[in-house]
Amino acid sequence: MRTTFFVLLNVAAAAPSHFGRRDVSVSGSAEGFASSVTGGGSATAVYPTTTEELVSYLGDDQARVIVLNQEFDFTGTEGTTTSSGCAPWGTGSACQTAINKDDWCTNYEPNAPTVASITYDAAGELGISVGSNKTLLGEGTKGVIKGKGLRIVNNVQNIIIQNIHVTEINPQYVWGGDGITIDGADLVWIDHVKTSLIGRQHIVLGTEASGRVTVSNNEIDGQTSWSATCDGNHYWGLYFTGSNDQVTLKGNYIHHTSGRSPKVGGNTILHAVNNYFGPSTGHNFEVGSGAYVLAEGNVFDGVPTPVEDGAQGALFTAEDTSACSSAIGRACVANSLTDSGTFSGTNTDVLSKFNGDTVATAEAVAAVTSSVPSSAGIGHI
Ligand SMILES: *[C@@H]1O[C@H](CO)[C@@H](O)[C@H](O)[C@H]1NC(C)=O
Repeated sequence: MRTTFFVLLNVAAAAPSHFGRRDVSVSGSAEGFASSVTGGGSATAVYPTTTEELVSYLGDDQARVIVLNQEFDFTGTEGTTTSSGCAPWGTGSACQTAINKDDWCTNYEPNAPTVASITYDAAGELGISVGSNKTLLGEGTKGVIKGKGLRIVNNVQNIIIQNIHVTEINPQYVWGGDGITIDGADLVWIDHVKTSLIGRQHIVLGTEASGRVTVSNNEIDGQTSWSATCDGNHYWGLYFTGSNDQVTLKGNYIHHTSGRSPKVGGNTILHAVNNYFGPSTGHNFEVGSGAYVLAEGNVFDGVPTPVEDGAQGALFTAEDTSACSSAIGRACVANSLTDSGTFSGTNTDVLSKFNGDTVATAEAVAAVTSSVPSSAGIGHI
């Protein structure tokens, strides 16, 4: 009796695919440094229906293709946390407040007004752990993870995340949680993902080695009612400070940010190509000591500070496009700046870092303007 019931149920669940539902599989392939990623490969797709199932599929040690065709709302699943905090950017309603996590307020903002008590959603603090050999895919615009990010740590490898939306992670509070964390990994491809309303970083590569990473065609949407710059633009966008990381950042739409979009440090090699930046209200690139950044074929529109003053790392912005040829086998594409500040870096040491690696192609900037803002993020593949 029970067996019969389950058989019938499975037939019913499988039926839609025979009536025109497109089989969900990875669209395209990774360009640049993570080009050899395969994720869950040809594993049979699983469709989690609860937050527990999603956590289990992502964290176990099986190669998996995990398809999301619904929203997974983690809000409230781990209760709330109450902590003290501070208001380094003021107590106005448009300002973010900081949680005193690991005594951050005490150590770094001793003069900021203190906030006696902050209660926030506990699920947001730490993302869902992702194991090796996983593909996480959303169907259409349905694959939404709300209230908790993804955490790719502990030396996992070979992970594809495509066409999902990660959102609403304690956006009022700095240290309320990150969108996607990579910190100790290799071969990770994040593609056509949208991130919005995040507490801390939208995407963060921490201090451990994250190896070869491709971040492509994503929408980093910084629009928020709570900002560290109190102006509706999120300060904590992209943070790449790993150890010997090689990061390809291509075709992303990075808008309504006010800083650190990206911040590059550690000894990261970053190829930023064909991204669309803007509008923004602060700096985009922050190039810290040890960073090597090749930025070509990007469009900046309405970006007052494409790169923060006082860059200590190496930045090459390809104003001399032919200088790239010997290192990457083709000329670079010049960046395009409209209603934007100056973006100029002439350190050709950057180019020697690319010798022999798989390097993403570069399209003309006109194609970036016409296609990136309308095709980046969820729902366009
Ligand atoms: C991931 O897949 C590779 C290749 O099949 C395999 O060697 C490795 O053990 C897998 N990793 C895990 C943690 O299962």
